[in-house]
Amino acid sequence: MDQAELIWHNGELVPWEEAKVHVLTHGLHYGTGVFEGIRAYETPQGTAVFRHRDHLERLFKSAELYYMPIPYTLEELRAATHELIAANELRECYIRPIVFRGYGQMGLYPLDAPVEVSIAVWPWGAYLGEEGKRAGVRAKVASWRRIPHDSLIPHAKACGQYLNNVLAKIEASKAGYQEAILLDSHGFVCEGSGENIYAVRDGVITTPPQTAGILDGISRKSVFQIAHDLGYELVERDLARAELYLADEVFLTGTAAELVPVREIDDHAIGTGEPGPVSRELQRVFEDALHGRDPRYSDWLDLVKVPTKAT
Ligand SMILES: Cc1ncc(COP(=O)(O)O)c(C=O)c1O
Repeated sequence: MDQAELIWHNGELVPWEEAKVHVLTHGLHYGTGVFEGIRAYETPQGTAVFRHRDHLERLFKSAELYYMPIPYTLEELRAATHELIAANELRECYIRPIVFRGYGQMGLYPLDAPVEVSIAVWPWGAYLGEEGKRAGVRAKVASWRRIPHDSLIPHAKACGQYLNNVLAKIEASKAGYQEAILLDSHGFVCEGSGENIYAVRDGVITTPPQTAGILDGISRKSVFQIAHDLGYELVERDLARAELYLADEVFLTGTAAELVPVREIDDHAIGTGEPGPVSRELQRVFEDALHGRDPRYSDWLDLVKVPTKAT
């Protein structure tokens, strides 16, 4: 992976190679951590973190759901992220804050283990590739069901929970597909391994509801707003698996992947087998919003002062 020079670790900027934890870190054993995936983009106004506050609010909510008090305020983590991007002189980057139970107490009762916070930033291209964004990806419905509400908390972006996504991703990848689609415990469509999912039929966009065990994506909220502004009807309801095969278009959204058309699912071509007009239009406007090219969405940008790199 690409690296940066510094990582923010419990309030200090430390060299990338020295941002380490003890092997008896609680989160390493039991998955007791929560995290975020955020991106900063170069915009005409300068470097800007996309929907920064929304991501940090979700981080605080995820932590609260797992009884993990974060020893910093949201504003402190926001300022730390700005400082870190500037210190690394990155004009565009992926941002990974993580809050986890640290070293000091083993056993399943975690509340006496310290809570540690790190933020890493590094250059990271589109998760499913630029080619995937352009031509669409091939996906497979995984045999693994998305974690149900009554076992874990799909709404939390919590470390241990991602073993579910990891299994689905490995299965899809070994079978030769770029992404996995998980069904919920009732067999309805839930989401991609790291993205929310949408089907388009006769111009109407349909996406699974909160009760389907989705992560409440911030890109999803953005696409809702953009679809509304473009005059599309968008419906949240349970989707049967075959509705994906029968859709005119299917696409995914997530911070890492951005907006990615799906051209094939389980070896069924979706629509014409190429990204369709609705996905294309939403993708274009979403990209404009991310890169600060659309004034309607300038409120989503949190500008960072990055020093100009000496050449
Ligand atoms: C499981 C899962 N679903 C959906 C998403 C999309 O969420 P967002 O748009 O906030 O990145 C992500 C990525 O964070 C994810 O990991």
